[in-house]
Order: sequence, then C-alpha cells, then structure tokens
Amino acid sequence: MTQYSTITSTQPAVTQHKNVNELALSSVAFENFRKMIYDSCGIYFQDNKKYLLESRLLKRINYLGMDSYEEYYDYLKYNSSNIQEKKYLYEAITINETFFFRNQPQLDALVTTVIPQLIASKPGKPRIKIWSAASSSGEEAYSTAIIIFDLLRPKYPDLEIEIVGTDINNAVIETAKTGIYREYSIRNTQPYYLKKYFKPVGNAFEIDPAIKKVVSFKNFNLFDDISMRSMTNFDIIFCANVLIYFDAKAKIKVVSNLYNSLNKGGYLFIGYAETLHTISKAFTIVSFPKTIGYKKE
Ligand SMILES: C[S@@+](CC[C@H](N)C(=O)[O-])C[C@H]1O[C@@H](n2cnc3c(N)ncnc32)[C@H](O)[C@@H]1O
Repeated sequence: MTQYSTITSTQPAVTQHKNVNELALSSVAFENFRKMIYDSCGIYFQDNKKYLLESRLLKRINYLGMDSYEEYYDYLKYNSSNIQEKKYLYEAITINETFFFRNQPQLDALVTTVIPQLIASKPGKPRIKIWSAASSSGEEAYSTAIIIFDLLRPKYPDLEIEIVGTDINNAVIETAKTGIYREYSIRNTQPYYLKKYFKPVGNAFEIDPAIKKVVSFKNFNLFDDISMRSMTNFDIIFCANVLIYFDAKAKIKVVSNLYNSLNKGGYLFIGYAETLHTISKAFTIVSFPKTIGYKKE
C-alpha cells in the first residue's frame, strides 16, 4: 500500500509512480468507476470513453503516487477523506468548455420576449432570478448579466436581478468568482461589450464590479436530490451542454428537479445540440428566432 501524498491542491503531479505509464484500467475497474461516477453525479462514461476516463484518472493516481486504478477506487470508496477526493475526481473527469455569448439567440430571446413577459406578469418591483446550472467558469452567467444591464436596465431602471452560477467542478467555480478571463473566453465577445464591461488586467480581462455584484457562484451537484430542493423560485434556468454527459434516466431526474426549481411562467434553456424530446412532457415548447425555450405553464 502506498503512502498517500498530502492532498492540498490539484496542481500537476508531485509524486510520480515509476511505472505510471504502464498502468491500465481493467474492464472490472472501468465498470466500478463508471458506476461510482454515475451514481454520484449522473455522468455516464460510454464504453467508447474508457480511454478518456483512463487518462483523466491517471493524472490523479499519478498525483497521489498510487500503484493502480484499483487502489484509487478503494481510496475513493473507503477513505474518510473521500468527500474532498470526490471533488478532485469531479475536477479530473468533467469537461468545462464554455465562452462568453456562447448562445446569442437565447440571450436575444431573454431581452426581446422572456424577461419583458416575466416583468409584466409580476406585480410590484420587477425582480428576476436566474440560475446558470452547470455554469463552468461563469461565462454564461456573466454574459446574461451583461445583456440585461445593457439592453433591459435602460427600459426597466428598477429591475432587480439575481444570477446564481453553480457547477460540480470546484476549480471552475473558483475561476468564476474571480471574474478574470483570458482571451480564449472572450473570443466571441463584441468589442462594444468588451470595452464597456471588462477591464484589461495584464493579458487578461476583468468583469466590471457592477456586473459581478449581481452574480454569485457555488459548488453544486445537479444530481443530488436533496441539494436540488434548496434551489427554488427561479424565473429562468440555463442548463446547457451538460445533459449530453448523462444517460436518459439521469436526464429525466435532473430535468424533473429543474422543473420544480422554476416559478410558473419560468423558462428552461438547454444547449443547441440537446433536446427534452423523450425526457420531459411537462414543459410547453416556445419558439424564438433560432432557438427554443421550455416554459413551465
Ligand atoms: C461543457 S460545460 C457547459 C458550460 C456552460 N453551461 C455552457 O454551455 O457553456 C459542462 C459543465 O457541466 C458540469 N457538470 C457535469 N456534471 C454536473 C453535475 N452533476 N452537477 C453540476 N455540474 C455538472 C461540468 O463540471 C462542466 O463545467
């Protein structure tokens, strides 16, 4: 049994096993990891993703100086620090690709129709609560805040907005909280927005403090029914480009919880390549130019 190195961060490997490149994920170990991952977060590794999982886990095994995939599996399953190690596992296995203004048609739908409709349907001071579920490093949440500030605040000066971004990967949540982004993230951002809502810091860009103030982030597992019950009264939920990693059963569970998190009249938006066909009949499909939304009637 290897002495485990102290786990303090997910920095590159500090302890390299001498035969680390020879380690292989056996079929049995693959099944065990696949089940453990699926049961805890809904991500399902198809058979053709075995090598991807193998290489992602290897980095962590290497970091911990362990001798085998089986040893890492037992460590996750039986060690008392496994809650923290599970977080590192999620950091190792998730795919966090995102960028500012990734889905412009959805943002257009918010500005032209969804938010004005929601404001008109609520008595008193207008207040909109938005959830960027699976936010990754926060670009979707901040893009939403930017378009609301720029295009709706002039029309509704007392509009209050609250945007919450959540993700199972704690490292990306920490990046989101900084509000500082490299050029890769802002590659699809209009120069007008860049100038108005970002400040250059070295070779990066920092989000305007007024935008940051209405957006908060937390580590959160969409597959955890108990935590999901705490997410209530949302007017708009984005859950984009994450359902693709789940199987049908997991999608049904997550989408049904998202439905419960929405107010009546609220909307769920998912990714370009995703559909709720065969997953949920609870929503009304509403068409907008170049996109659709799922409305809770
Ligand atoms: C490809 S990114 C999508 C980011 C953003 N929504 C977008 O469309 O640009 C998918 C994100 O889902 C997160 N994720 C995967 N499983 C999750 C779960 N069970 N709960 C919360 N987040 C999860 C991953 O960590 C990753 O950051």
